[in-house]
This record gives sequence, structure tokens and C-alpha cells, in this order.
Amino acid sequence: MSTFWSIWVTVITLGTVFGCWWLLHATRKGQTSDTETDRTTGHSYDGIEELDNPLPKWWFYLFVATCIFGLIYLVLYPGLGNYQGLLGWSQHNQWQEEQQQAEDRYGELYARFGDTPVEELYQNKEAMQMGQRLFANNCSVCHGSAGRGNIGFPNLTDDAWQYGGDPDSILSTLRNGRQGAMPAMGTMPNMTTEQVDQVVNHVLSYSDRAEDPEAAKKGEQVYAQACAACHGPDGKGNQAIGAPNLTDDAWIYGSNYDWIKETVVNGRENMMPAQSGRLSDDQIQILAAYVYGLSR
Ligand code: HEC
Ligand code: HEC
Repeated sequence: MSTFWSIWVTVITLGTVFGCWWLLHATRKGQTSDTETDRTTGHSYDGIEELDNPLPKWWFYLFVATCIFGLIYLVLYPGLGNYQGLLGWSQHNQWQEEQQQAEDRYGELYARFGDTPVEELYQNKEAMQMGQRLFANNCSVCHGSAGRGNIGFPNLTDDAWQYGGDPDSILSTLRNGRQGAMPAMGTMPNMTTEQVDQVVNHVLSYSDRAEDPEAAKKGEQVYAQACAACHGPDGKGNQAIGAPNLTDDAWIYGSNYDWIKETVVNGRENMMPAQSGRLSDDQIQILAAYVYGLSR
């Protein structure tokens, strides 16, 4: 917060507390509740009159106590602009402490499985229950609660792998994240509109869905020049750079003509966030086994 806003917040907050205090005293008119009178405010309606008596004592002192409580609170906790409070409390600190407590409490549970190889671990029922919970908390927002993915988020339950489905590849994906980048190529001077149509038809022909078989045939050459380096000469992909297999029925994006054309023309960039630092090594091991098991 800038100094200006810090002062702004402080002045308004303290002003409100002292303002209430002042209002309370100013309207008390030197009376105490012992001096009850029959004096009215002069308001009268249907015979009901408003008496002008002082505030009841208990109410008055309760209000004073609230003001004092507020001031003590503002000394101890952050509430006045940039002032941190005597206790040094912050949301972030509290969150970190809770994280640490959880780590101390559950860390041991995870540690029991941290050294078990993925191929073995995925058959352990207890570990997989943990894996399911970890997945629900950390992965399902993107990959779906069942791991089936969605447009732009790969399905983890099939046997099509963009980066490889062996334990080491999955572990590496989870630890370091992945960044898939398909360059935008379907515009001039790279490619004419006609060539885009040809290469899209060619890609569709891998799964026998070419809309224009003649164009698909011509697309073979465009493909060899523009795409084969990454997606392989026969469209089977390259896991080392995350270029997907274009011949199977697993698609990260849509599988029809328009989606593929969009990918070719504008390219795609996608990111799987790295989990090292967010999750412990043991948790990552369990999750890798869980993902490994999803497709089995
Ligand atoms: C913010 C969204 C997001 C979250 C959270 C996320 N992922 Fe991903 N994940 C992706 C995206 C997007 C990709 C594809 C990356 C690419 O295309 O380069 C991906 C790719 C993967 C892959 C590679 C799949 C393949 O075919 O090779 C695996 C495995 C994976 N995620 C597992 C997980 C696990 C386990 C978690 C939970 C710890 C997780 N992801 C959390 C978005 C996410
Ligand atoms: C520099 C390497 C590279 C080149 C060249 C390249 N691609 Fe890609 N392509 C990728 C990568 C990497 C992805 C995955 C992007 C992601 O993670 O979102 C991809 C994704 C795709 C997809 C989406 C697949 C799916 O499952 O939804 C299609 C379709 C595609 N490319 C077609 C082509 C065609 C056609 C060409 C040639 C005109 C081409 N690519 C050229 C690297 C490349």
C-alpha cells in the first residue's frame, strides 16, 4: 500500500473510533442514568411520546468497551494501513504455519511410500487412496476429477501420452512441469490458404476422416516440409518435445477440421505447472503412481 493510502486508511479508521466515542459523550449531556426524567423530545404520535432520557448505563459502558477493544485490536493486529501490528500476525504467516503443521502431521504418512517404485506403488490400495485425494486437491481443477481432461487439458486415463507414460516421464512432468508450444504456421508467407486446407485434410486422413481426399494427398508434401520435423514423418508424434500423435483418436484440442485448422493457423501454447516446491517429493511419487494407474 502506498503511503498515501496507508494514511488514508489510518485516519478514517481512527477517526471512526474516536468519532463514535465523541458522539457518545456529546449526546450524554452530563446526565447519568440516575437522573431519569419525564422530559420528552417533543415528538408525539398517536399519544406515544419519546422520552429524552440518557442511555442506560450498561449500554453506555458496553459501547465504551467496544471502542477500547477496537483500539487494542488495532495495536495488536494489522488494521491501520501499513502498520503490521505488535503480534506480527498476517494471513500469509498463518497459512504457512498451518502448512507446516500439516506437513509435520501428514509428512510421515506420505514418507512411507516415497521410496516405492511407481510400478509397484500403483497397486497399493492405501497409497492410491491418498493419491486420489491429492489428485482431487491439486490436479482435478484442470484434468477433471476422474482425470479425463477437457479441451486444452490432456486426458490422463487413456494410453495416449504427449510426454510419455512411463514412470520416469510422468515423474519428470510432475516435478518440472511441461510447456508445449506449437508454432503458428498457417499464414503467409509460411503457407497459403490452400496449403492449410491441404495439410488439415492430410492430418484428418490419418484417422480416415479427410473431407477432400485429393487435397489430403497434396497435403502430404506440405506436411513433410512443415510438420514432420516435430510430429514425425508418419504423424505419430514425438514425446521428447511433446508433439502429439496425430493418428490416434486422443486429442488435446478438438479433432474436427475447424479445430485442427485453428491449431495450424494460430499455433498452440500450453502449460502444465511444475509441482516441485508446491508438493513434497513423497507426494509427487504417490501422484505419479496414481496417474500411472489411471490408464491401467
Ligand atoms: C493449471 C492446470 C493444471 C494443473 C493444476 C495440473 N495440470 Fe497437468 N497438465 C496441464 C496441461 C495444460 C497439460 C498439457 C501441457 C502441454 O500441452 O504441454 C498437462 C499435462 C500433464 C501430464 C502429461 C500428460 C501427457 O500426455 O504426457 C500429466 C501426467 C499431468 N499433467 C499430470 C498432472 C497432475 C498429476 C497434476 C496434479 C499435481 C496436474 N497435472 C495438475 C494442466 C494442469
Ligand atoms: C516446432 C514443432 C512443431 C511443428 C513444426 C508443428 N507442430 Fe503441431 N504441435 C507441436 C506441439 C508441441 C503441440 C502440442 C501443443 C500443446 O501442448 O498444446 C502440437 C499440437 C498440434 C495439434 C493438436 C493436437 C491435439 O491433440 O489436439 C495439431 C492438430 C498439430 N499440432 C498439427 C500440426 C501440423 C498440421 C503441423 C504442420 C503444419 C504442425 N503441427 C507443426 C509441435 C509442432
